[in-house]
Amino acid sequence: MASLLKGLTTVAALVAPFALGHSTACSSQQSHPAPSILVSSTSPFALDVYNGQQVIHNTAILIGDSNSTTGSVSASKTGELPNNGGQISAAIVSSQVAKISINTTSGFVGARFSVAASDKFYGVWEYPWEEQLDNGGVYFDLKGLGDSEGINWDNARAPFWFTTAGYGVYADTLAMGSFNFSDPGVAQFIFNTSSLVYYIITPSTPGDYKSILSAYAGLSNTIEMPPDSAYGPTFWSDNFEEDFHDGVHNAQENYYDVINHLYYNEIHASSMFADRPYGTGNSSFGNFDFDPVYYPTPKQFIANLTHFGFDFQVWAANRGFLYTELYNTSVSNGWLMPGISPEFFLGPALNLSIPEAYAYFKQHMAYFPSVGVKGYKIDRGEEGEMPVYEQNIQMTLFEQLLYETMVEKWGEGNFYNFARSAVDRSRSKTAVWNGDSHSNYSGLAHSVTSGLRAGLIGYSQWASDTGGYIRNLNDPEQELWARWMWFSTFSPVYEIMIGTNHTPWYPPYTSELVEVLKETANLHHDLLPYIKSMTYQAHKTGIPVLRAAFLEAPNDDISYTMTDAYYFGSELFVAPIVNAGGHRTVYFPQGNRYLEYFNKTTVHQGGSTAHVNLSTHYVPAYVHAGAIVPRGDITQANNKWTSDWTPELTIELYPSSDVPYSSFAYYNGQTKAEAPITMTVDALSGDVAVEYGSLGTNGTLVVFTKGGMKNATLHAAGGSASFTDVISLFD
Ligand SMILES: *[C@@H]1O[C@H](CO)[C@@H](O)[C@H](O)[C@H]1NC(C)=O
Ligand SMILES: *[C@@H]1O[C@H](CO)[C@@H](O)[C@H](O)[C@H]1NC(C)=O
Ligand SMILES: *[C@@H]1O[C@H](CO)[C@@H](O)[C@H](O)[C@H]1NC(C)=O
Ligand SMILES: *[C@@H]1O[C@H](CO)[C@@H](O)[C@H](O)[C@H]1NC(C)=O
Ligand SMILES: *[C@@H]1O[C@H](CO)[C@@H](O)[C@H](O)[C@H]1NC(C)=O
Ligand SMILES: *[C@@H]1O[C@H](CO)[C@@H](O)[C@H](O)[C@H]1NC(C)=O
Ligand SMILES: *[C@@H]1O[C@H](CO)[C@@H](O)[C@H](O)[C@H]1NC(C)=O
Ligand SMILES: *[C@@H]1O[C@H](CO)[C@@H](O)[C@H](O)[C@H]1NC(C)=O
Ligand SMILES: *[C@@H]1O[C@H](CO)[C@@H](O)[C@H](O)[C@H]1NC(C)=O
Ligand SMILES: *[C@@H]1O[C@H](CO)[C@@H](O)[C@H](O)[C@H]1NC(C)=O
Ligand SMILES: *[C@@H]1O[C@H](CO)[C@@H](O)[C@H](O)[C@H]1NC(C)=O
Ligand SMILES: *[C@@H]1O[C@H](CO)[C@@H](O)[C@H](O)[C@H]1NC(C)=O
Repeated sequence: MASLLKGLTTVAALVAPFALGHSTACSSQQSHPAPSILVSSTSPFALDVYNGQQVIHNTAILIGDSNSTTGSVSASKTGELPNNGGQISAAIVSSQVAKISINTTSGFVGARFSVAASDKFYGVWEYPWEEQLDNGGVYFDLKGLGDSEGINWDNARAPFWFTTAGYGVYADTLAMGSFNFSDPGVAQFIFNTSSLVYYIITPSTPGDYKSILSAYAGLSNTIEMPPDSAYGPTFWSDNFEEDFHDGVHNAQENYYDVINHLYYNEIHASSMFADRPYGTGNSSFGNFDFDPVYYPTPKQFIANLTHFGFDFQVWAANRGFLYTELYNTSVSNGWLMPGISPEFFLGPALNLSIPEAYAYFKQHMAYFPSVGVKGYKIDRGEEGEMPVYEQNIQMTLFEQLLYETMVEKWGEGNFYNFARSAVDRSRSKTAVWNGDSHSNYSGLAHSVTSGLRAGLIGYSQWASDTGGYIRNLNDPEQELWARWMWFSTFSPVYEIMIGTNHTPWYPPYTSELVEVLKETANLHHDLLPYIKSMTYQAHKTGIPVLRAAFLEAPNDDISYTMTDAYYFGSELFVAPIVNAGGHRTVYFPQGNRYLEYFNKTTVHQGGSTAHVNLSTHYVPAYVHAGAIVPRGDITQANNKWTSDWTPELTIELYPSSDVPYSSFAYYNGQTKAEAPITMTVDALSGDVAVEYGSLGTNGTLVVFTKGGMKNATLHAAGGSASFTDVISLFD
């Protein structure tokens, strides 16, 4: 037992006087101890939280009058901080969670944790520093960041990290703070607040990182379940008011031109949105309208988009652009953030902590849902329009405000907001896109890693601008765009920026790119039953759709540093090509076997590496042994080319003799409930039995075998099927 106590003097000092949990020190002797936490302290002040065999070293509480003068406080017990400096308390709030709360008379509060130098810390920021999955070497505030390599303003964030030492920490505050991972084995945070609550989160069983993410989600929150249109493909332009082709005269007609090209090419799509500019005034946001020169009949126009199967969103930002209605009203009421220049394109934010400013902004934004708009692209909030220490507070309020305007009109789950800058609990009010990615391979590679990082802080509903946002004259180059389309196919959301001389069906692009667009958009559409089911799991548990490999393969050391390959949900493994030429190596995480998903001939063993060389018509994608993958055409969206369209589901089954039982939780969108799909494999007889609940849609069960596909009818109300003489593709 002493070896578990790592440097602490006596057991008695650990247990008393802080034995807050129901556990006793002896529980750590069990090989698989019941999850339980014990809070204790040593002198100088430290908290050590015990969960079975883990030792968590919360080595210091940091208190000071500025963020550079905080010092470690010395105290021999919880309760009083020294010199009447405040109070600290620790409590067990569940079998996995301890809560520490500190009230001080100082302006800044934080804490420090120590682990082995070889352990890693994940979380906090979406942005992939140095293209890393973890935070080694990083010191930065909990705020947005621009001018970064690969992606500008890649800004989803949360005051939560977890470590390979086996636990997580969530600092529950919107105050500005900094996270410091500069020194190996040390994590430190300090917030601009005199009161701080933070939680120490242990796994339900040692090494189960998903259970840490779920416990964090339980304290914070999860994404809301989006409408079917949210997953895309979504087509948008940075400026529909220019780049007119084929008799187009205004922005409205420019959208119709897109609709027509999608229709004639039979490319599935479900939404479109207007980036700024679209309104009147100098810089086109803040008059709460559409510019009649470009949108002569906005209400009818949006009704038309709806009729053609597209939801429509508009750009929004908390920014008073000079001389707009928003600006003028805010100036006369004193609502603007002080000391910010109102120059063109810039402009100060409204202080939404002032209730009248919030009410005014909300009331005026309600114009958009009133004419049929079903969500916002929420920009900025971290680009100099307010003092840095207001970012997290104001973004949270703005996303709340925009959410309210939509939910009051359309109801929960019937609209789609997505933001560039979002903090912690705002994930339930808005999805995210990863900001202004560069239109080159560096931008694509950083986007893949940022998607994985977003998932590790609970932002599952995520997209990147396919092709990159920061485009030079000839960007995106055709091959890059095609590779990026494949990444977006296997992203939770597929959104693609076209227009302004960059539209796949206009020069300089060739029909080859339109083919790839069609293959990728239509595959993403066909994967909707799968993506939606996985998104429901994210909504329920906080476990993301884009999964860093170590979440699924925690026993494989290499999976902890994989920045360019990931699990897409629980069943698929994807390794996007993020460089020119089509070559890459793919490492397959241990603990599974992987069948190449397109041709379904090659099987890769876990722990092996393969070299692939693929044209732009493929991406390295794999399905694991025993997988169940629901696919199909379950939402019509813009599909007007199919007469008598009816929904249809295909459940793909990949039996393997070494996986006797598999299950998949299908999300039935009509009942809004999970329906189980199970597969039982008898290795000796070659019998495969499938059972499923109410999936709500008719279709086909397909078992992939060495002898080809074996099919059975799928009944919407639920049922079962059995197959004999199955020779697995994995054998
Ligand atoms: C800190 O202050 C809050 C609000 O007054 C109170 O609920 C909490 O119990 C205090 N915590 C401690 C450790 O004193
Ligand atoms: C710490 O102080 C510096 C300098 O005043 C400031 O730039 C930074 O944003 C501060 N960080 C926090 C967390 O307050
Ligand atoms: C970051 O934390 C380390 C201790 O781990 C400390 O030495 C260093 O000064 C901190 N850096 C900043 C900028 O506060
Ligand atoms: C801390 O927040 C206060 C407002 O609560 C602000 O006046 C101060 O400038 C902030 N400090 C830093 C370093 O940002
Ligand atoms: C709606 O679409 C139809 C067909 O393209 C077009 O003729 C009509 O002008 C559109 N209406 C509006 C208000 O844009
Ligand atoms: C805002 O005020 C400026 C100057 O006072 C005026 O020129 C402008 O028309 C006003 N904007 C609106 C939308 O009324
Ligand atoms: C737009 O704003 C900029 C900067 O404030 C100003 O220079 C320009 O004249 C304005 N344009 C119009 C059309 O008002
Ligand atoms: C924003 O408004 C709140 C509430 O009135 C106030 O406490 C805060 O200081 C304001 N922030 C700034 C930067 O003025
Ligand atoms: C990618 O594009 C950005 C922005 O244009 C540029 O700064 C960067 O150097 C480019 N990177 C590569 C690898 O070409
Ligand atoms: C599938 O097979 C075709 C034809 O042999 C080949 O060109 C293609 O590269 C294969 N795709 C994958 C993903 O292996
Ligand atoms: C499924 O097919 C059956 C038999 O053809 C039919 O009666 C039923 O209405 C269909 N259910 C759905 C949801 O399409
Ligand atoms: C089995 O179903 C799939 C998917 O619906 C279909 O593509 C295939 O042609 C069917 N095969 C047989 C042998 O019926």
